[in-house]
Amino acid sequence: MAPTNLLLTSLLFLLHLTLLPKAFTIGINYGTIGNNLPPPKRVAQLLQSTLINKVKIYDTNPEILEAFSNTGIDLIVGVENTQVANISSTPSAAADWFTARVAPFIPATSVVAIAVGNEYLTAADSDKLDHNALVRAMQNLHAALVQRGLDRKIKVTTPHSMAVLASSFPPSASTFADMLLPTMTAIVGFLADTGGPFMVNAYPYFAYRDNPKTISLEYALLGNATGVPDPKGYTYNNMLDAQIDAIRSAIASLGFQNRSIKIVVSESGWPSKGDAGETAATPENAKTYNARLIQRAQSNKGTPMKPKESIEIFLFSLFNENKKPGGVSERNFGIFNSDGSKAYDVDLSCQFCSSDSQKTSGVGMNRGPTVWCVAKPHSDEKVMQGVVDFCCGPGGVDCRDIDENGDCYAPDKIHAHASYAMNAYYQMHGRNYWNCDFKGTGIVTFSDPSYGKCRYSGQ
Ligand SMILES: *[C@@H]1O[C@H](CO)[C@@H](O)[C@H](O)[C@H]1NC(C)=O
Ligand SMILES: *[C@@H]1O[C@H](CO)[C@@H](O)[C@H](O)[C@H]1NC(C)=O
Ligand SMILES: *[C@@H]1O[C@H](CO)[C@@H](O)[C@H](O)[C@H]1NC(C)=O
Repeated sequence: MAPTNLLLTSLLFLLHLTLLPKAFTIGINYGTIGNNLPPPKRVAQLLQSTLINKVKIYDTNPEILEAFSNTGIDLIVGVENTQVANISSTPSAAADWFTARVAPFIPATSVVAIAVGNEYLTAADSDKLDHNALVRAMQNLHAALVQRGLDRKIKVTTPHSMAVLASSFPPSASTFADMLLPTMTAIVGFLADTGGPFMVNAYPYFAYRDNPKTISLEYALLGNATGVPDPKGYTYNNMLDAQIDAIRSAIASLGFQNRSIKIVVSESGWPSKGDAGETAATPENAKTYNARLIQRAQSNKGTPMKPKESIEIFLFSLFNENKKPGGVSERNFGIFNSDGSKAYDVDLSCQFCSSDSQKTSGVGMNRGPTVWCVAKPHSDEKVMQGVVDFCCGPGGVDCRDIDENGDCYAPDKIHAHASYAMNAYYQMHGRNYWNCDFKGTGIVTFSDPSYGKCRYSGQ
């Protein structure tokens, strides 16, 4: 690309950024226990026209991994509960799993996390499952990612149900169930050390269904109910906040109050249909709950205990799944019908990506087409050397590729090495334009700087 073009694209890039809203995440769970669901390619297209920018699946269905390549949508893949024991057996079993199931699809598909098991510790047959195996499986997978230099991009975690708590009320006094304490301590320690999020599936719906006389519907529906006081002085206007803070307290009670551990709501939703007794399972309530959930995710709102810490949320679920076992409501959590029409009217439009911007041809903060950061031609060599020293040192970039024998060592020129280091730093820090400044020596480009065996990462 000619320098004038480069300048133009980077100006356009900056212009785009100033027009974009604050980055937020709205994820959705994409379950596939149905015999009438659209093919993954169509699902990926469907989601690209919405504001959803993360998708969580429960396995590593290769068709889905392939379908989400180059969509700008991040993917969280899952290890099935039945596979946990195998992956826990040896580090090489975990490496083999990753090599076979995930590696073939990256980086075209942006895999950002691996959810090891789903509600593994509280599954119906969990007494038959080895709890330590879950921890070992997580450790083994993390080690496999470290070996490939992917541990910063791909986080290892495990989604829990609220049943891991001994009690959830009052939120400030909540703890994990006694019999899970050793396992939870190991898991939370692992997450604190590796930067993975603590995932919880939180369903005010079920709490309301089971206690409709004591819980107000507005409180369960994420409304602004009459405040429920907590003895520590917090006031809860909706149950989801109380559930999240209950998890927060339980984590703190293990002795992790000073470590930063992000809590992610890996599932939450409301069914539009249920069995005869499930009177709150209506399209109106499902619409109300999910619309509020989406609004909440966009608002970057925290909870009473941590008002400034926004919560990442994954809606449950994308489709009604007609082959799911259990009660009627289990098969009716979907926002979409299998033909791609909405099960009820909830606004998923993305004002900044519905036209031709952001997702299709423009640039998003964390999505859109891939962009790279390189050193400007003719930049000052001393400054560039300083940039390399910074990126490869405190900046945390893995610079082995520009060491002697590395794939990007040749040409042994400071401009090339600085480009490599700048790009790695930029990709790692969320592709914000200020992470490609480097005292004016960095510039954003739309053309892949990779050459020969030297690969520049891009998302
Ligand atoms: C784990 O799974 C792999 C692939 O399915 C298989 O080859 C291997 O024998 C299994 N290992 C154990 C310990 O079950
Ligand atoms: C919720 O209700 C309280 C008391 O009625 C009010 O002060 C507060 O502003 C309301 N919050 C929202 C988000 O509507
Ligand atoms: C957490 O930090 C506070 C304030 O710095 C300190 O007083 C307390 O001892 C720390 N607690 C733990 C468990 O490290």
